[in-house]
Amino acid sequence: MSQITILIGAQWGDEGKGKWVDILSEKADVIARFQGGNNAGHTLYIDGKKLVLHQVPSGVFHPHTAVALSAGVVINPGELVREMSVVRERCKVNPDRFWLSERAHVITPWHIELDCRREKTALSPIGTTKRGIGPTYAEKYARLGLRVGQFVSSSGRKDWLEAMQNHSPEFQTFYNENRKQWDEFWASAAGLSDFVCDAEQRVRQSLFDGKRLLLEGAQGALLDIDHGTYPFVTSSSTMVGGAFASIGFSPRRVESIVGVAKAYTTRVGSGPFPTELNDAAGTHMSTKGHEFGATTGRPRRCGWLDGVALRYVYHANGFDGVILNKIDILSGLDEVKICTAYDHPELGRLTHFPSDSSVLEACKPIYRSLPGWHQPLDGMTRLNQLPKQTREFIQVVEEVIQGKVAMVGTGVNRGDGIICGE
Ligand code: IMP
Repeated sequence: MSQITILIGAQWGDEGKGKWVDILSEKADVIARFQGGNNAGHTLYIDGKKLVLHQVPSGVFHPHTAVALSAGVVINPGELVREMSVVRERCKVNPDRFWLSERAHVITPWHIELDCRREKTALSPIGTTKRGIGPTYAEKYARLGLRVGQFVSSSGRKDWLEAMQNHSPEFQTFYNENRKQWDEFWASAAGLSDFVCDAEQRVRQSLFDGKRLLLEGAQGALLDIDHGTYPFVTSSSTMVGGAFASIGFSPRRVESIVGVAKAYTTRVGSGPFPTELNDAAGTHMSTKGHEFGATTGRPRRCGWLDGVALRYVYHANGFDGVILNKIDILSGLDEVKICTAYDHPELGRLTHFPSDSSVLEACKPIYRSLPGWHQPLDGMTRLNQLPKQTREFIQVVEEVIQGKVAMVGTGVNRGDGIICGE
């Protein structure tokens, strides 16, 4: 593994990043989450047991690693304390290996309330996870946010509370009417205070010391606040640049940038999705792929691989390669498809990913159709074990995205995958 590897989701999230972070963590010393909060749900299967992490980096179960949550993340403190206790059942969680940035922002009960209210009254709801993510980032940029460092200090908490009460009568009412909830919220600071530190400095120091760093993205590039399908996006920078902004280190030092995509596409929540299927193939993906949200349990919308979107994400992030995950789920289909371009009623054929969601909404996919395969691929570890139709599918993906498929995922367990070129 190179000294710094960044791994991000290359679609609308839920690409199966957790498993690959877990695998790459074997060779890493430090693993950092740089954006998002407990809207994420990273599923891991360790010794046959399913584990879902929402805020703690997925590499935490490798006891030789340290994990960091850096400035760009938002923290739900009560949930983080609960998640840390689950992690503790399997490995040590101590301040030497768990670094929580004092610069990160805290999701308060007020932010969750605002998220729920906005979803309820919006003309076009986003379909958020209702975890308070958007309002927490909004308050951060309005410079009214509560940082972790302030949250664990009693005078810091008092200052923030006074500022908010002065800023918003609505906040004041909500605070007064929900004192028990707020008391529990403030009490959760005690469970985190030992871990709060200048996490970014610790990450930089570890780089100086020659340690290997793995940066773990949450959500996916198409949910990026700037480059995704706005407004149907999350509120953080899910693209590779988010990592530099969140931790503060030189992009020059990064040697490997990897995107994780499924061999098909899924999306949770609202927003354009040109290759979405409402037919038997979509049901096949949904059922066989267990496509239900790890955080909210919502069914995920399913469709063919969108090669236009993946090409855009690949080059906008400068991937060295993409991991094509869950290819085993496509087994059993007579035909498989890859979207190579869009057809727009007024603009005609489009080969680039439009910046305007209403343009994307009107696009119809233009597909390249390929013969499917029926053999199960579960757990295959070598390219030459794959049926020739699967290898052709991978080759066409590379042509369409003008990039490289570096690895292929063939099952849920740690060892179920193929490193291409080996
Ligand atoms: P928020 O991040 O809760 O504000 O939700 C904004 C949009 O991002 C919604 O469409 C969510 O379904 C989506 N989203 C947020 N987190 C994830 C994730 O981890 N996987 C997939 N979609 C997500």
